[in-house]
Amino acid sequence: MARERAYAPYSGFKVGAAVRTASGKTYRGANVENVSYGLSMCAERVAIFNAVAAGDPAIVEIAVVTDADPPSPPCGACRQVLFEFGRDAGVVLGNLDGEAIATNIHELFPHPFQRD
Ligand code: THU
Repeated sequence: MARERAYAPYSGFKVGAAVRTASGKTYRGANVENVSYGLSMCAERVAIFNAVAAGDPAIVEIAVVTDADPPSPPCGACRQVLFEFGRDAGVVLGNLDGEAIATNIHELFPHPFQRD
């Protein structure tokens, strides 16, 4: 499970993410923190960048898992990055109690920054 690979000694908040691309493949990510806190990276972006760096950038869906109740949504920065690669992406927010909320990038990020 992606979340178990989180490196979160400073916040203690472990996040796992998995993206599914148009090719049907899945790419995972976990948050990776740093003692210089601002250098930390969210799980969602690690998963998205894994897909892009594998040459498979068309994101269809992302799942995010935390131990939060209610399940935690992606931060604003991750929403902008998700929009770049998944203009119609589905988003599933889950937690360790098995709760799952289905939403999508349009609901979470209705006014993206775009060049046009
Ligand atoms: N975090 C994520 O991984 N994804 C989010 O969308 C929000 C926050 C991480 C960053 C940091 O390691 C920890 O959660 C606490 O903010």
